Amino acid sequence: MPSHHAAPARVVVLVSGTGSNLQALIDATADPGYGVEIVAVGADRDAILALERAERHQIPTFVVRVGDHPDRTAWDAALATQLAAYGPDLVVSAGFMKILGEQVLADHTVVNTHPALLPAFPGAHAVADALAYGVRVSGCTAHLVDSGVDTGPILAQRAVPVEDDDTEDTLHARIKDVEHAMLVDVVGRLARHGHTLTDRKVTIP
Ligand code: GRF
Repeated sequence: MPSHHAAPARVVVLVSGTGSNLQALIDATADPGYGVEIVAVGADRDAILALERAERHQIPTFVVRVGDHPDRTAWDAALATQLAAYGPDLVVSAGFMKILGEQVLADHTVVNTHPALLPAFPGAHAVADALAYGVRVSGCTAHLVDSGVDTGPILAQRAVPVEDDDTEDTLHARIKDVEHAMLVDVVGRLARHGHTLTDRKVTIP
């Protein structure tokens, strides 16, 4: 039977840690109608669970470490070279704990997922910061990456109530459950439909 699905979008996922968001995307690609092929997984460090997940699914991996380059600009150029080899339509930063540089951002549309309701609590300690502030609702944000720290145009947000006895771990675990579904939804829609950007407003047709 001929397939009625258009060619899937080529997606590279960037990771630094556990890779539960990566796993959610991998699981979604089991359905050809999802419209995504994960063509590679890239990391800024070795020996992480996220890379094991990719290998388990026979997805090519690469590692570009900041410490192997004289400065951030050289690291960014090396990452851009690796990405170019896979010709992605979309790059997804899923728990990638580095600020992307000019070259990568010039070459690619990049989606990031963040475990707070931006613009509240940007940065690497979002869940702890939200708890310390005492907010009663936090959540997660998917956004396009620009040159700032978690400042790019917002694609999707989902709210998660904070419980009285939450620790960073329990709150982050509940946020991740919601984050996985949000990321799968938004990456699939971007892959299948593309997007237009007017000022900070993103439209996915
Ligand atoms: C996610 O909550 C992401 O938003 C944050 O770090 C976490 C990564 O989790 N930046 P994982 O590696 O996808 O499990």
